[in-house]
Formats: sequence, C-alpha cells, structure tokens
Amino acid sequence: MRMVDIIEKKRDGKELTTEEIQFCIKGYTDGSIPDYQMSALTMAIVFQGMSEAERATLTMAMVESGDQIDLSAIHGIKVDKHSTGGVGDTTTLVLGPLVASVGVPVAKMSGRGLGHTGGTIDKLESVEGFHVELENEEFVRLVNQNKLAVIGQSGNLTPADKKLYALRDVTGTVESIPLIASSIMSKKIAAGADAIVLDVKTGAGAFMKTLEDSRELAKAMVRIGNNVGRRTMAVISDMSQPLGFAIGNALEVKEAIDTLKGEGPEDLTELCLTLGSHMVLLAEKATNVEEARQMLKNAIKDGSALETLKVFLRSQGGDDSVVDDPARLPQASFKIEVEAKEEGYLAEIIADEMGTAAMLLGAGRATKESEIDLAVGLLLKKKIGDQVQVGESIVTIYSNFEDVQEVKEKIYNSITITKEKVSAPILVHEEIT
Ligand code: URA
Ligand code: CA
Repeated sequence: MRMVDIIEKKRDGKELTTEEIQFCIKGYTDGSIPDYQMSALTMAIVFQGMSEAERATLTMAMVESGDQIDLSAIHGIKVDKHSTGGVGDTTTLVLGPLVASVGVPVAKMSGRGLGHTGGTIDKLESVEGFHVELENEEFVRLVNQNKLAVIGQSGNLTPADKKLYALRDVTGTVESIPLIASSIMSKKIAAGADAIVLDVKTGAGAFMKTLEDSRELAKAMVRIGNNVGRRTMAVISDMSQPLGFAIGNALEVKEAIDTLKGEGPEDLTELCLTLGSHMVLLAEKATNVEEARQMLKNAIKDGSALETLKVFLRSQGGDDSVVDDPARLPQASFKIEVEAKEEGYLAEIIADEMGTAAMLLGAGRATKESEIDLAVGLLLKKKIGDQVQVGESIVTIYSNFEDVQEVKEKIYNSITITKEKVSAPILVHEEIT
C-alpha cells in the first residue's frame, strides 16, 4: 500500500477501505508516514468528508493505537460524560456524586489540562488532602464500594490522536466534523466507557458557535459511538454565557456542593438533571427518563447525593468537612465588585472572555508549567435577562492581588446592557439519540 495513492483517492472524493485507514493511522503513529503526507490527507478529508463507515474505522484505529483502559472488574454499566468545552462548567463535579448516589458506577479518569480554570482534578484538589494517585486495584475497589472514584491520567491513550491533533492544529485542518468527532470519541472509548452521554455546547463561548454546527457534531459523535458498540446520546446545551455563577476552582467546588444541596444555580441544576437522567437511563438503573430524573431529584432532597460526595472525598484522603463548611476551601485575599455603569437588562456576558478574565487572575494554566491559584476566580451576580441598576454588582472578582484593572476591563468589554427587555437563553436546545 502507498500513502500517495490513499491521498489521491480521498482527494478525488472516494471512500477509503478499512485497511487503508488502518494503514494510515498505524504508519503515522510509528513514524513511517511523514507529517507532510498526513497533512495532505487531513486536508483532503476537510474538503471531501468521510462516510459513516470511515468515521467508525478511523475512531477505532486511533483507539487501538495505544493503551485501552479495562474497567471490566467494575460491576455494572460504566457511563461516561463528556462536555465539548465550556466556561465555568461545573457539571462533572455535580454529576459524579449525583448519579453515583443512585447506583451508577462512575470510574473517572481525569487530567489537569490547559484552560480558563484547572481540570476536574485541580478543582478537587481545592479540598485539603484529596489525591488522585491511586493504584488500579484501589481505584476499582473504590468504584465498586462507593460507586465513584477519580484517578489521574496514566498510560499511553490514543497516541495517534495526540499526534494528529497537534498536526491539524498547525495545518488548518481542525475544522472538520469527521475529524473532530473521531478525535473526541476515540479518547472516550479508550478510557473504557460502555456508554457515553455527550454535552455538546453551543454559542459564543463554545467550540461550535452555531446550533447547526453543534447539531452536526453531536449527530456525528452519536453515530460513531453507536456504530462501534457504545450506546451514545447527546444533549446540545447553551454556552452563550457561563454556566452557573462560579468560574474558578474552589469557587466551582463550592458551587457543586450548593447544587448537590439543592441550592445551586438554576441553569447548572437543570443541565445536571438532564445529563444525569440520561446517564441513569444508559446505565439501566431506570426504565424511562422521567423516572431517572425523579430518582436524582430525590437524591438531592434526601441528602444521599451530598453523602456520596463526602464518602468520595474522604476515601481519597480529602477533608470532607468542607461539604458542611465550605469556608474551609482556599479563600482569596481580595473581593472586588464590578458594578454596572448603566441601568437596563443584561443582554450579553461573553463566556470565553469571562474565562480569560478568570485566567488573568491565575485560575487556569496558560502553559503546562503554570501554577494554578485555586482560590481565585469570578462569581456572576447577574445572568442574561436580569435587570440591573447603576452601581449594582454584576460580577465579584476573587483575587490574590489588589490591582485588578485589566481583569475589570476585560469583564466590562464582555458585558452588554440594553434598555430593552431581554429573555434568558434556552438552556437545552436538543437531545440527539
Ligand atoms: N477536541 C478534540 O479533542 N479533538 C478535536 O479534533 C477538536 C476538539
Ligand atoms: Ca459554574
């Protein structure tokens, strides 16, 4: 087989065979196919697309390029959730304890990563003593016992995707639905999920800015999952403004605790109930989505979701007294209000701009080596559609330095106040199965 023939075949709009796709991925991973040939192929895919069969084959070829996590020692159907990026997206912290409390096993492998705030592990490390350095046997034992454990990323998962994503990033070939969908799905499948709930974000703060693009990506991922034997569904949710109120590590842990107590922001609570009920359904712990939602609401009401969080934190060395006393979480030295300069209705809070503002405070990593300040971030006091008076606080800045002029300017630039009444955006646009 010759790579040049495969490139020409895709350039001319023909469908590649299983053997051809496997040849490309194997050769690219082991270095026998050079970057220039792979970038020609990815550009051909950008223009010509891929059939449903090609997408499934590409996904599995990337899964098989490295280690795969074996979760078979964990009882029950392991359901994973994946969000396609977001700002202040506290859903993972809420959903773990919430669905685990009704018997869904959550075996979460997580990373730190770059971004506006830290990853799930960084956030959880706001809890004194909490650690994710577990032996595999201990991880499995904890999930079987408590239904929830989090372990740090280890092993060599999807090396083909790592190499390909880096190449696409510098060759103008990220923007391709088949390539994005197979990239994301390969990572979830290699991490051992039996079933997958996808939260595809849409709007100004999301990777996919329009509903049409988000829908197309969601459909592509759902088809890949189902075609390779993993039950998959997707929810398309709004990211035209940050989800919930908190953007920052310890601030989001506090927000997750509030939500598990039934006192969280309305939008975050609603999205967690929607995603969670589909996780419960895919795990076959309920027979329909209404029953699943009721189970989760009960778990919040009767305290079992909160108790699951405590047991989870304690089992991994964490100080579970933060749940009853969140003041024990890292606290910032300065609290500064960003006040409205005009009256009216809040019409816009650009999510990724707010994320950048949180990052300027030190809440996220700009490079792999950056240190995160767990205490800092932003707390929204107003959301789109809310009425504001002059001098009223829109956002509280939590900072460990006093001069936050740059952060304030960023926030003012990302906010629009209008005289006309505005309605709150729709939170859940569509569900795709
Ligand atoms: N996120 C991924 O993991 N892969 C892509 O290709 C794009 C976004
Ligand atoms: Ca939030």
